Amino acid sequence: MEQLWWQTAVVYHIYPRSFRDSDGDGFGDLKGIIEKLDYLQFLGVDVIWLGPVYESPNDDNGYDISDYYQIMEEFGTMEDWELLRNEIHLRGMKIMMDIVLNHTSDEHAWFVQSKQPGDNPYRDYYYWRDSNEGLEPNNWESFFGGPAWEYDDDAKAFYLHLFSRKQPDLNWANPSVRQEMYDMMRFWLDKGVDGLRLDAVNLLSKPDGLPNSELTSIDKKYAPCGHLVANGHEIHGIFHEMNREVFSRYPIFTVAEMAGVSAEEGLLYTDPIRQELDSIICFEHMDVDNGPNGRWETVPFQLTTFKRILSNWQRTLHGSGWFGLYLNNHDQPRVVSRWGNDTEYREESAKMFATCIQMMQGTPYIYQGEEIGMTNVQFDDISKYRDVETLNYYRIETEERGRNSADVMRDIYLKSRDNARTLMQWDESPNAGFGIGTPWIEVNPNFNDVNVKSALNNPNSILHYYRKLIHLRKRYEVIVYGDYVLLLEEHPDVFAYKRTLRDETLIVVTNFSEQEQIVEIKEPVLQQELLVTNYPDNGENMDRMQLRPFEARVYLCKQKETFK
Ligand code: GLC
Repeated sequence: MEQLWWQTAVVYHIYPRSFRDSDGDGFGDLKGIIEKLDYLQFLGVDVIWLGPVYESPNDDNGYDISDYYQIMEEFGTMEDWELLRNEIHLRGMKIMMDIVLNHTSDEHAWFVQSKQPGDNPYRDYYYWRDSNEGLEPNNWESFFGGPAWEYDDDAKAFYLHLFSRKQPDLNWANPSVRQEMYDMMRFWLDKGVDGLRLDAVNLLSKPDGLPNSELTSIDKKYAPCGHLVANGHEIHGIFHEMNREVFSRYPIFTVAEMAGVSAEEGLLYTDPIRQELDSIICFEHMDVDNGPNGRWETVPFQLTTFKRILSNWQRTLHGSGWFGLYLNNHDQPRVVSRWGNDTEYREESAKMFATCIQMMQGTPYIYQGEEIGMTNVQFDDISKYRDVETLNYYRIETEERGRNSADVMRDIYLKSRDNARTLMQWDESPNAGFGIGTPWIEVNPNFNDVNVKSALNNPNSILHYYRKLIHLRKRYEVIVYGDYVLLLEEHPDVFAYKRTLRDETLIVVTNFSEQEQIVEIKEPVLQQELLVTNYPDNGENMDRMQLRPFEARVYLCKQKETFK
């Protein structure tokens, strides 16, 4: 496999609205990010992924774009963006933009135009359909709840929106839509952008005739349609064309966010021979605690399932495709609260998760606040939540389905995307040093204990541990290119695996439980060295280990006598 710059890179993911507010208007902004670049350089990351910063009415916090060529006013100006790009490049880092191709805002000029009657070229930019005897054109349910169709009085027709009603889906079967989007991506790449994160991008090819989906429950009017709209029949053709028209012309890195994709399909999207995309962020490993009725229904975390899924991706992509390694982002609750212990073992479990995911093959993504072990939040009232998906869920469950509010709030505490969107915790000053204005969302009350300032001052902090992991990735090629073998496959509490490159072997052992675990790893190695651990080294070697709660250990082993 050809070696490329982004394969050794670590990405830091910024949610601009919550990162740092430099002007006191209550919203994070581009100048606020510039203030923190020295910190990110100190952390050791290579690429900064900016959540969407384009003009937007913010129904879905910037994922509803009304003008792809303008910067959102709350975030600053194009000059601020150019300064940010320059400051990132000056520090030897790269900038990745988040691009939304599946839909625009309903306030985008194309959509406004598309409602006009008569001979109107924009009509076909979206999915406008007549009603089906007064009902929606089909029974699809939006990913954010309720019908995926909205009736518009001016247009006298329904339009499709797989996400919120303010996010109408673009029709990628229309060549003009494709050309407009290629022009837009080239505009940003010509401005010196180094990478693109493509939002929800395996949804671009819808099935012919938009057929009904099968109802999953008799008391529901609308049916989930993910399996019908993901990985559609034209999707690979679209990426091949996009690659030819855009990606292949620049030395960039692309990562595609794709739900409902198996490892085998992931390989098709990312195998360089096929000239589509460089890498993928999948959902399969994050969906393990979702119940049969979707992500709001939570079932117990099963480590063996989690291991099976990640191991399958590791093996399937090895040598051809490329994986995005993550356990946190702006759409997921914080992993330390979700599958770890965010009180007694917050530090240990945060470090353990980081070790487990970052020692695999792929590009690690660190989501803001993850490096200090930020946790989920429990706001006492729904009025304090901001996320459109969360608010829709609350309304539908309480008003339409008559569930009691306390039960619904419990679901929200576990899964709301706002868990990840509270303010970045910089220090112990009001609003955790986010900014002086009234912030758009409340701060997590634990900021006195969990913040960057105190983490910087403590050499044993999660933050310093992340620096160490990043440093190891730069130093040991086996972390980047080694092959992968799962060890202790059936163990219900320990995730262990082996990476090998030439005569170097890495053994990664992580305890996912609060109980001690005794495990033995018998590998025919000559020498072993404990590279990193989240507990004091007790001198054990891997033949017999008594792992403490959430303990993580990484051993470097050599087959020959080559240690210095
Ligand atoms: C992606 C984004 C998410 C957004 C959705 C619609 O999944 O990560 O935040 O709501 O796409 O654009």
